[in-house]
Amino acid sequence: MFWVLAFGIVIFAFGLSIWLRSNRRYASSSSVASAYDSWTNDQLLEVLWGEHIHLGYYRNNSRNRDFRESKEELVHQLVRWSGLSRLPRGSRILDVGCGIGGSSRILAKAYGFEVIGITISSAQVERAICLTEQGLPCTFKVMDALKLEFEEGAFDGVWSVEAGPHMPDKQRYADEMLRVLRPGGILAVADWNRRDPGDRPMNQLESLIMQQLLNQWVHPEFASIDSFRRNLLTSKYFGGSIETDDWTESTLPSWIESIFEGVRRPRDVLALGPKAILMGLREIPTILLMHWAFTTRLMQFGVFRARG
Ligand SMILES: C[S@@+](CC[C@H](N)C(=O)[O-])C[C@H]1O[C@@H](n2cnc3c(N)ncnc32)[C@H](O)[C@@H]1O
Repeated sequence: MFWVLAFGIVIFAFGLSIWLRSNRRYASSSSVASAYDSWTNDQLLEVLWGEHIHLGYYRNNSRNRDFRESKEELVHQLVRWSGLSRLPRGSRILDVGCGIGGSSRILAKAYGFEVIGITISSAQVERAICLTEQGLPCTFKVMDALKLEFEEGAFDGVWSVEAGPHMPDKQRYADEMLRVLRPGGILAVADWNRRDPGDRPMNQLESLIMQQLLNQWVHPEFASIDSFRRNLLTSKYFGGSIETDDWTESTLPSWIESIFEGVRRPRDVLALGPKAILMGLREIPTILLMHWAFTTRLMQFGVFRARG
């Protein structure tokens, strides 16, 4: 009985998501801004994902850990792996595509950095300011990552987590981050990447699924780990070294965990009203497709560290 019901719910949600999908297609940076404005204002994303809009890090692929703690762990892992942890306290860090400031606050609190977070969504900036304790050296601004309003070499470190899939021009995204990084500074990026077409082209089923993954959450295109590495390497602002890694295995449990979060927090979801349940159900097919795509390595969780 449970499985019939679960199957019915998934089919219903899938139908609903197809019906509504034209709302979520990438059209321009304004479409990304308005998607994040409404995801912020309706509060469902924050109730389910907390203050970090990114996947969690699970050591040894073990799901035996709180979803929110795993997200904080991802931030610490990336700080350590990228070498950002070696920068002295007081270093200036730019958080590109900062969401509601989850990473920025950790970078300021735990590492003593002075952080500026930028996002395309004005609702996220308001929420980030609201969630930030007074006196913490974090400021937030509405700004387009492809037109950063900072001088060349203005930052000791540049941080960007899961913003890349929304960028229509990956070369410009790489160029802008490297431009504002000082020589010898550190760039740390985590991204959702597609399998490189040079490794194996997509079959028909994969192309169909990829189209959904793009259309559902305002993604113009995913870079592959190799193509984004090349974007960084060929940038005229690149002067140092670059390394990449694949953290798919350590982040994979996040997808199923994010569905369980709704079950673990029914009161919080219900407190947002009955519409929130429908909105939550609508995301389930995309989350399951993401899980499938990352499991089969059609998608990969790429991380990048570079010296300016
Ligand atoms: C998946 S969220 C990640 C948020 C945050 N990095 C985190 O980990 O919690 C993607 C973020 O990228 C931002 N973004 C997308 N396109 C952008 C652009 N062109 N300029 C600035 N921010 C952008 C979104 O507004 C959102 O804050």
